[in-house]
Amino acid sequence: MHDAIAPERLSRVYTALAHRYDLQHGLLTAHSDERGRRLVVEQAVRPGDKVLDAGAGTGSTSLLAAERVGASGHVTLFDFSDGMLDVARQRMQARGLAGRVDFMSGDMLALPFSDGMFDTVLSTYSICPLFDQVAGALEFYRVLKPGGRLGVAHSVSPEGRFMRRLADALEGAAWRYPGITMGCRPGSVLPALERAGARVLFERRLGVPIFPFLVFVAEKPV
Ligand SMILES: C[S@@+](CC[C@H](N)C(=O)[O-])C[C@H]1O[C@@H](n2cnc3c(N)ncnc32)[C@H](O)[C@@H]1O
Repeated sequence: MHDAIAPERLSRVYTALAHRYDLQHGLLTAHSDERGRRLVVEQAVRPGDKVLDAGAGTGSTSLLAAERVGASGHVTLFDFSDGMLDVARQRMQARGLAGRVDFMSGDMLALPFSDGMFDTVLSTYSICPLFDQVAGALEFYRVLKPGGRLGVAHSVSPEGRFMRRLADALEGAAWRYPGITMGCRPGSVLPALERAGARVLFERRLGVPIFPFLVFVAEKPV
């Protein structure tokens, strides 16, 4: 497993690729990324929810969430790359959803919110590049209300020894180019969330065999 890319450098990497991010991420995941986002939003977001999209990037998941929460709901897009958030802002305006959202920059590992502020927290492909993935997932859980839902899609290791070795070899070669890997590393955060008390409502593996990801929704008990 490679070391995570330092946050300051990672934020510059994402800002530099903001305008081609959607195309690149879609191609690398054979467009299964969008299926993951749709599933997360369908399973985790309810009309009227106050939602945090952590690591919102160019806003693909936030767009779906803003449509689903309706006029009485709200979505906060949080990211440390202003370049990614600028693209998200343009997309929200173009879709007429700017009135249901706000944008904040900062580090997901230290969210500037008090405990229990959100009905739903979403993280699609944003745990993968974190320096400490488990700390990030627990930080999302902290800001969730009792009864609230955490909806996540993140990279996991491929199943089977052959696929794992192939993925390692490809990642080994690509890791020198952060603009290609986007700092993404497979991980496992669900056991830590369950130890913190989260109840799993939904769990499914998606993606291409060599770069699979896990989609899950977990509830914070009342
Ligand atoms: C792979 S992109 C995912 C974007 C989006 N959620 C999606 O579904 O396409 C990861 C995003 O997480 C952001 N990110 C990574 N580490 C972060 C951190 N520590 N704090 C805030 N944002 C971070 C990056 O800037 C990037 O926009």
